[in-house]
This record gives sequence, structure tokens and C-alpha cells, in this order.
Amino acid sequence: MYKVNLIKRSIQLTGAILLLCIHAKAQSPVRMPGNIKQVTVSGQQVKISMDNAFAEITVYSPSVVRVRMDKQPLKADFSYAVISKPTTTKINVSQNTQEIHITTDSLQVNIGKTPFSISFLTPDNKVINEDEKGLTTSWINDQVTTYKKLQDNERFVGLGEKTGNLDRKGEAYTNWNSDVFGYAVNKDPLYSTIPFYIGIHHQLNYGIFFDNSYQSDFNFGASNNRFSSFGARGGEMNYYFIYHPHLNDIIKSYADLTGYMPLPPLWSLGYQQNRYSYYPETEVMRIAQTLREKKVPADGITLDIHYMDAYKLFTWNKDRFPDPASMTAKLKSMGLHTTVIVDPGIKVEAGYPAYESGKAADIFIKYNDGENYTGQVWPGWCHFPDFTSDKGRTWWKDQLKTYMRQGVSGIWNDMNEIATWGQKMPDNVLFSFEGHPATHMQAHNVYGLEMARASYEGARAAMKERPFVLTRAAYAGSQRYAALWTGDNRAEEDHMLLGVRLLSSLGLSGYSFTGMDAGGFTGNATVGLYTRWMQLAAFIPYYRNHTQVNTKSAEPWAFGEEALEIVRNYINLRYHLLPYLYSKMYEASTTAMPVVRTLAIDNTYDAQVYDPQFQNQYLFGDAFMIAPFESSASFGKIYFPEGKWYNLYNDAVTSGKKEDITAINIKSLPVYIKGSSIIPMQSLVQHTGEQPTDTLQLHIYKGEQAHLFTYYEDNGSDYDYENEGFYKRDIIYSGAGGKLTLDKVSGHYNSKFHYIRFILHGFEDKQQLTVDGKAIGVTATSYSFLSPISRFDPQGTFVPADSCKVQQFTIANSNQLINVDL
Ligand code: NOJ
Repeated sequence: MYKVNLIKRSIQLTGAILLLCIHAKAQSPVRMPGNIKQVTVSGQQVKISMDNAFAEITVYSPSVVRVRMDKQPLKADFSYAVISKPTTTKINVSQNTQEIHITTDSLQVNIGKTPFSISFLTPDNKVINEDEKGLTTSWINDQVTTYKKLQDNERFVGLGEKTGNLDRKGEAYTNWNSDVFGYAVNKDPLYSTIPFYIGIHHQLNYGIFFDNSYQSDFNFGASNNRFSSFGARGGEMNYYFIYHPHLNDIIKSYADLTGYMPLPPLWSLGYQQNRYSYYPETEVMRIAQTLREKKVPADGITLDIHYMDAYKLFTWNKDRFPDPASMTAKLKSMGLHTTVIVDPGIKVEAGYPAYESGKAADIFIKYNDGENYTGQVWPGWCHFPDFTSDKGRTWWKDQLKTYMRQGVSGIWNDMNEIATWGQKMPDNVLFSFEGHPATHMQAHNVYGLEMARASYEGARAAMKERPFVLTRAAYAGSQRYAALWTGDNRAEEDHMLLGVRLLSSLGLSGYSFTGMDAGGFTGNATVGLYTRWMQLAAFIPYYRNHTQVNTKSAEPWAFGEEALEIVRNYINLRYHLLPYLYSKMYEASTTAMPVVRTLAIDNTYDAQVYDPQFQNQYLFGDAFMIAPFESSASFGKIYFPEGKWYNLYNDAVTSGKKEDITAINIKSLPVYIKGSSIIPMQSLVQHTGEQPTDTLQLHIYKGEQAHLFTYYEDNGSDYDYENEGFYKRDIIYSGAGGKLTLDKVSGHYNSKFHYIRFILHGFEDKQQLTVDGKAIGVTATSYSFLSPISRFDPQGTFVPADSCKVQQFTIANSNQLINVDL
């Protein structure tokens, strides 16, 4: 009897414990999706119901699969970032009691049913990426996170404008667009949100784009050795998985989803002189004249907030700028385009036209009780246009017209995080979100994107030429509208180097038209730092010098004669390089290949390129390897990846896959050219409106590899290129065989270059060679990329005076195929 009771009691106890466990599980604050209960396949989409969640897996292309999940049935689809729809793709879906199996030509997707978990494999069964079993996707209240198994030696690159190392392993990041004046070099978050990164392991690469505009968090194995994760504090789990063997194709697939940058106006690739702020008009004109007198080539001058009347948007301070249209015209006649800053805050002030018309049109963001939100920024208390509504954008576009009529060519969107003093915009402020009201929590990160869109569309509609649009805040997709610069950096050495990594990471994340405040925004640069930074920025797409209010002058002549000569040398080089750079921007606008290109793109599995001592090195386009060092460095260790590398200044060759220590001096930035490169250049001009000579200089560097360069030219200003108003040809160097082919030209634009001078680097001496079967004489000469500045160096020991021994010959340009036997 006692025994029976004992058994009974222990059964009761086990039952109670079991119940407790079940109860505890049901009470878990972490909600898991559970088991799959129902699967519906429709075309390229698999819809899934689970115990506690719903999912949709959609094949966008053979290499791109989208995963959507929510606790409730999925709502209507909407994205500010993604502009493409799934392309028709051959897929195969099968299932059994254990899993659902989707295959495309490039990818397999396995979805475990009990419980839900997803993995992506190559066609030959290699795991590219898989949910971390037990964690997969879960919710804590409204916060949703997906956990991926951390693969052995996995690296992570990208994620947009993020501080830290090139390889983000061991780091965690947050996306919440923030106004971070004078940020520290490890600050996170900064101004923009691009929730797209690339994972690399076992010679496999994948991209994940997490399209969720709420504050999001990424963890690349920070404080844990189990998973990488991405999640947001609201909204759906909504990510695109991209698989390609090469990083450039992953970036391209990301751009297929979120869009490509438009071709910029040529002038915007020239040097742009900024400061907070140039005023009055006489000061602007003095800067313009000095640029010309001192023969510093330039194409742009930017007006910061002091051009306005008491910082009120769409006004001019009449004392400082009595006649803006005549000033922009004078500047234009000197080859200088004017860009004006615009902030979103509209001052609340009776009688102020923008305020009155914004109020009448009812375009401001509001609290949930319908009262316009009022926050404080430069002009004082302000309302803010709702750029997430067509009405708000249309109103903004209308306002911009005045600037365009006044001859302004560029719109600089600032403070669009939204920045307000105090930085804590209330979460109960509502945004239209195209008619589906969203709180500040959901809309914050896309506000900058939609402001950039309104500015781009407005400026584009109001002028015949292409506008230059710049933004500080951004979300994935902003590359469709605006260039981006990295905000309020500091005039410090590590900020210069950080800037390079920010731009490299932006490039990996589909953003090519980028720049930073060369010379540093806060504080005063030393002569060395300024000089080095301006040299470096010559190899960055958006070439801007800018500095804060109350800092010392930072124009190229403000640091003494020697600095001026050095900086001018590099600005000159930039202008010589415009045919190359414009072709590379064309490439970025069609393939998303970034112009600031981390070495990780071409050398993904070479561990050295991620080594912190080499991670700042980058390619400018496909030809130039830039090795940035602190200005005080007199020696630097450089890593030469696979290939053959020519010293830009003297053609000395280093073969790749090795480190080398080089002497550094402030007069020349370490720059190397990759063997087999093709670099089109032009004669020096003071601005892009000035015609160079009619000879295109085509530099060819001998190398083993075959190489293709797409040369692209158009009028650089309007949209005629959309109707084939371009001059485009592939130039192919065969590598070892020594043949150069200039393919037939496509497009109906007439090149400004009637002759082509071939400048051969590293080739054997020859008296003649054959072009289209005819013999042509070749001259051995020397060539210098920089002018000598020897009067500052009595010993004459520095590198820039060095020159390359080259062979040259010139032929008439023709649109037909040209064959050269080198
Ligand atoms: C903040 C911007 O980041 C900076 O570049 C600008 O000069 C100031 N706002 C003033 O407009």
C-alpha cells in the first residue's frame, strides 16, 4: 500500500513538474515560430503557417530569395527601399513531413518543419547560411530577430556607414539615423541606415538585406560565439538572401532590388569648395576668384546655412545676398556651380511664406492628436514636412523651384535624420507612409531617403541639366537620388582613415557617390593632415573640402605655399583623371561596382586585406590602389594583393601577395596601379566646362591578366544619354598576348577627343608597332603625373619629381574597331 502511494505521489509530482514546464514554456518571454502547420505553394512563393507565426518565402531570381515572417498574417507588402518585383524564375518546390525544399539554378533553400528553421545551400550542398537551431527567428514583444549560425572563420563586411574594422566580426551595430556632431571614431550609429551586409566563409559569400525601417540591431558574433543576428524593434522579419560566388555580383543583386545611382553631372565630380559658411556675396566671389587666380581647379561652391534669412528655408538674407540669381550667373560664367543647403525644419512664424503655405497645404508631420509636431533646430521652433506623403513631397518640389530659377545647381540635404535639438523626437509623431500612418519609430530611418527623393525629383523637374543632390541621412535606396557624405568628422588623423573605411563600407553597400569633409569638419587640421587628406580625397568620388563655423580657413591656399602646391598637384591630377572617373561613375550607375572599392571585393579570400594594418587600402575604380597613412608617417607597410603593381610616380614594379615597407613623404600619397590597367586621361582644365585638348591620353600598364575597360563619355550635363547620346566603347587589353582592342563605338555622341595618345607603361622599348596592320612610330619619353615642386626640397629627393619611362604614339580617333599590337 505504502509503495502504491509512493508511486501515485511520484506520478502526481512528475505531472506537476511537467505542467509547470509547459506553463513556463508558454510563458516564455521569447516567442518562437513553432512547427509548420500548413504550406501553400503559389508560383514562386511558398506561404507557411506555423504554431505562432506566418511566413512567405519568395524567389526573386535564381540567386535572391526573400523571407518574410510575422506573428500575425502578413500585411500588405510595402517598402521604400525595394523598387523591383520578382523576376520569372524556374524553381522547384517539394516537401515531406520533415522539410520543404526549394531549388533554383543557383541555390537550394531548405525549410525545416518541426520546428521552423531555414537554411541556404549551394546546388552542390554546401551550407551558405543557416538559422541557428533553437534560436532561428523569435520575438520579444514587438522586437523580431533572426539568428544565423556563426560559421567557422566567418567574416562580415558592409552595413553601410559604420565605424570599426573592415571585417565586422565580433562587433554589434544599431541603425538609427543620428545627428552626431564631431563623432568619435568608434561611434555608432551615425547618420544613415543601410541594413545590408555580406558574409564570407569557406570561400562562399552571401548578402543579407534586412528591409525593416524600425531601429534595427546587427550582431556579428559580439559577446557570443554562436550566432550572427539581425532584428528590429518593430515590424516584420523581412530579409533578402543573396548568393553569388563573387562580391560584385552580390552588390549588383542588392542594387537590382534597391536601385542604382543616377549618372551625376560631370561638374559634380570636380573639386567643390565648402565652408560653414561663405557669406556675403563678396566673400563667395573672393573665394571663386582666388580659386581661379591660384589655379586651383574647381567646379562648385556651396552655401551653408548663413545664406538664409535667420536660417529660414527658401529665403535669402538680402543684405548678404541681394541678388542670388546674378551671383550664381557670375559664378557659372567662371565655371562654378552653386549648391545650397536645405534643412527640413520650417520655422513656425506667422507671415513666413514657407510656413504659411506648408500650413495651408497641411503637409507637416503631426502628433497622433492631429497637432503639428514642433521641434527646435537652427531657425528656432519648426514644423517638418512629411516626405512620406506625395502631398509633402509635391509641396517641397514646388518650393525648390525658386532655387533652380535662381541658377542653383545643387541641393544639399542636411539635418534630415531628423535632427532637432535634444535629438529625441517623440514616438507618437505620425507620418503618412503613403497613406498607411506610421509612428516616428517606423518612419525615422526613411525620412532622409524620402527627403532626398523629393529634392532629387524636384530639382530634376525644375532644370534641364542633371542636378547634384547630396544627403546626410539615408536608408537603403537613397543611392537612387543623392550622393552621401559622412557628416561632421574631426580634423584628426584617425578620422581621415576612418573616413576611408566608411566609404569602402558604403561602396560594399551599393553606395558609390560618396565623400567626406576633406581636412576635417570640427577643429583645425595641421598642415600635414590637411595636405594628406586633400591628396586622398582626389581619389574619392565626391571631392569636398568643408569646415565648421569659427574654424580657421581651410581653402587650399590657407596652409601655406608648399601645401598649396602639393594639394593643387592632386586636384590637377583629379582633373586629368576625369575621363577615367566619369567612366567609373557610369559603371557604378549600371553595375553598382563602387568607385571606392575595398580590396575585399577582388581579393575576398585573402586574409591580409582584412588585417587592420592594411584595411584602409582601397582601389579607386579598378586601376589605382591607394594606401592612406597618417600624415606624420615616414614609413608605411603596404600590402600588395595578387597581381603586378606599378608605383604611380616612377613605374617601379612590385609583384603581389606580399607586404612591403615604403618611405613616405607628405608630397606624394602612396598610389599604385594594377598591371593590365587602362586609364583614360585628359589635359588639365580649370573646371569641367572648359574644353580639354582634343587628345585623349590612354595609359596602358603591362600585365599578365586580360582586362576590359568600358570608356564612357557624354555631354556630362543633361539626359540626352537616355536616348543614346553617349560615346561608349569597350577597350580590351589581352594581357600576355599584348593586344589592345578598342571596340566599335556605340551611341551617337561625338567624342571631344579627336586623337588618342597611347602611353605605354612597362612595355619593352620598340621603335614602332602596328595599328590596324599599319606600322606606327613609337617615341620613348618620360611622363610625370605630378608637377615638380622642387623649390621646397633643395635636395630634390622626393618622389613626385620622379617620372615614368613610357612609350607613346598617337593616332586619330575613329568610331570603328581599332586593333593595336603592342
Ligand atoms: C551640419 C552639417 O553636417 C554640416 O556640414 C553643416 O556645415 C552644418 N550642419 C551647418 O549647416
